[in-house]
This record gives sequence, C-alpha cells and structure tokens, in this order.
Amino acid sequence: MSKNKLFIQTLKGIPSERVPFWFMRQAGRYLPEYMKLRKEAGSFLDLCYNPEFATEVTLQPLRRFNMDAAILFSDILVVPHALGQDLAFKTGEGPVLTPVDNLEKFKALSMEGFHEHLSPVYETVSNLSKKLPDHVALIGFAGAPWTVATYMVNGKGSKDQAETRLMAYQDRATFEKLIDLLVQSTSEYLIRQADHGAEALQIFDSWSGTLPADEFIKWCIEPMQKIVQNIRAVHPEIPIIGFPKGAGAKIRNYVNKTKVDGVSIDTSTSTSWVRNVIQPLCAVQGNLDPLLLVSGGAALEKAVYHILDHLKEGPHIFNLGHGIVPQTPPENVKLVSDIILNYRR
Ligand code: CP3
Repeated sequence: MSKNKLFIQTLKGIPSERVPFWFMRQAGRYLPEYMKLRKEAGSFLDLCYNPEFATEVTLQPLRRFNMDAAILFSDILVVPHALGQDLAFKTGEGPVLTPVDNLEKFKALSMEGFHEHLSPVYETVSNLSKKLPDHVALIGFAGAPWTVATYMVNGKGSKDQAETRLMAYQDRATFEKLIDLLVQSTSEYLIRQADHGAEALQIFDSWSGTLPADEFIKWCIEPMQKIVQNIRAVHPEIPIIGFPKGAGAKIRNYVNKTKVDGVSIDTSTSTSWVRNVIQPLCAVQGNLDPLLLVSGGAALEKAVYHILDHLKEGPHIFNLGHGIVPQTPPENVKLVSDIILNYRR
C-alpha cells in the first residue's frame, strides 16, 4: 500500500506530476484545536505519552490542509527521558533536563525499561497506521544523536551548543560513549516505529550547523551512517530522510556517506545549488522560510512558486526549512497547500 503513496514514491525517486507536501511541526500551537487538547492533557509530555490524544493531534492538520504525510506527534527528547534522564517542558522556557555532563552521570543512563517507557508512542504509531486516509503516509521520527546530546549535556536549549562542543573536545571518551548509546537507542526506537506501521523515518539534526567540518563527520555523519545501516538491516525498504540543518555545502558529503533516501533542506540553502548538486543524489524536501508563512501576502506566493519551479526537474517534497512557528495564521498554511495541490510539473 505504501508503495502507491505519492510521498513514498517521491522518496524512491519516482517522478510525479503533482508535488507531495507536508510541513514540519504541522501539528502544534498555531492550531486552536491543538491548544484545546493540550490543555485537556495537562502538559506537553502528557500529550506525547497519551496515545489517544497524540493520535488525534497528529490528525488535526490533515483535516484542514490535505497533506501527503502525517508525522507522529511526539518529541525528540522522549529518547533521553526513556534512558532515565529527568525531563520537563516549562512554558516559555522549552525543555529542561538534569545535565549529563560527566562519566558518572552518563553511567546512570540505561536501556533497561527503554521500550516499555516508549510503548505509548508505539501505540500511537499503530493507531495512526489504521486511521490515516489511504493516500497519506505515516512518518516516524527521532532526533539525531548530536542534536539530542546537545540537550542532554546542557540541560536545555542553547544558541550555539557551546557546552556540548566543549565536552566533545574536553572529555571526548565520555562524549563518544554518549553518542554510541544514542546510536543504539535511536536505531532500536526507529525500528520499533517501523514495526508498528511507520512508512518513512525522519531524523532531525537541528543543531548540526555549529560543528566544524571534521566534528560534523564524527558526530553527525558517522552516527547517522550507523543508524541507517541498523534500520536497513531490519527494514530494507523503508525510506529514510535526514535533516542536517545548517550543514550548507556539507549536505553533499552527508548524503553520499549516510545513503539517505531524502534530505530535508533548511531555509538558508539555495534551491539552485540543491537542484544542481543534491537532487541528482537523492530526493529533497523543503525549504520555505517558516516566517513567510507568518507574513503571508505576495512575498509568500512568490517564494512558494520559486521553490516549486526550481526543484521541478527532480524528486521534490514541498516542506518548510524548519518548523511552523506558533504565531502562524492557519489561513496562510491553507493558501500554500492550495498552491501546491494545484501546481503541475
Ligand atoms: O508536527 C510535528 O512536526 C511533530 C511533532 C514534533 C514536535 N517536536 C512537537 C513539539 C517534532 C517532529 C519535534 C521535533 C523536535 N523537538 C526537534 C527537532 C526539530 C526542530 O524543531 O529543530 C527539536 C530540537 C525538539 C526539542 C523541542 N521540543 C524544543 C526545543 C521545544 C521547545 C520549543 C518550542 O517550540 O516550544 C519542544 C516543544 C515542542 N515539541 C512543542 C511541540 C508541538 C511545543 C510544546 C507545546 O505545546 O508547548
């Protein structure tokens, strides 16, 4: 069944007249129906761990915009949580964790009980695979080891990931152990999502852009190579999308080495470069500036057509360059969806 879905076909490099689309963070705070359920659930994490609510929240944007794919509603930080690290989401502050920044704290983490902790997520995936409309593909996801590690080490988000880059230089042996544990746990987590019905997998490396070239190879490319191999050993057919945000020209080496089926392109990357250098290697996804979805108007329409026209010769999934922001008017999402649905290559 998956095989006939436009989103999956595009990831396999099969051309189509219409461009498939979905939006990163398509479920979330810009939708009043999300805010209502979030309030009922109590906290953001309660929402993630409640299969009935998480299923409903995943389906909400599809009722308005008719996307070609739905992404499981969860968060990348449920993995460290399942490894035993404390996690809370504080309003206005984002995630807060007890930092794992030395060997002793690293040793407190464990895979024991990992899948049991994540079983509500697996149940959400199963629910969704039964409930999605026939043409809509289900995307499972996880954070990439480097990006997840930046939250684990610092205990919260940071502007330039300085604490984690420092740990990688100063206590390389412990940091390597942490990355290895994340490779193992993330691989198993994604394999289970595929077992439960995920039809494609996206791996978010949101903070890969602050690493020097050699460190990018060590902490972004190599772990991703291993994760892709681990998944393909069990699910050889499932398409895998990488998102090395901010990687710029390093995207090319990332695609060549990791052998992903698709790569998500951030807003700062030029579509002409993507067309010439990346599209011959794999499917590309992206890359509208999420702030254009806030501003709307003629600038928004022009940018949407620019992306569609520039990437129409090769496999392209329309998406944003990063997630939808809370102040986005849903009408603008509708406008973009309608343009894409009516566009023919
Ligand atoms: O619709 C979807 O895209 C699926 C759900 C999804 C969420 N987070 C829900 C969420 C996905 C795929 C993510 C990934 C995620 N989470 C990433 C990688 C992608 C990216 O945005 O770079 C990262 C770095 C995180 C970690 C995270 N989660 C942060 C830093 C924050 C706080 C910032 C913010 O936007 O509030 C979150 C919270 C979060 N994750 C929310 C949602 C809907 C907002 C929580 C709320 O309702 O208050």
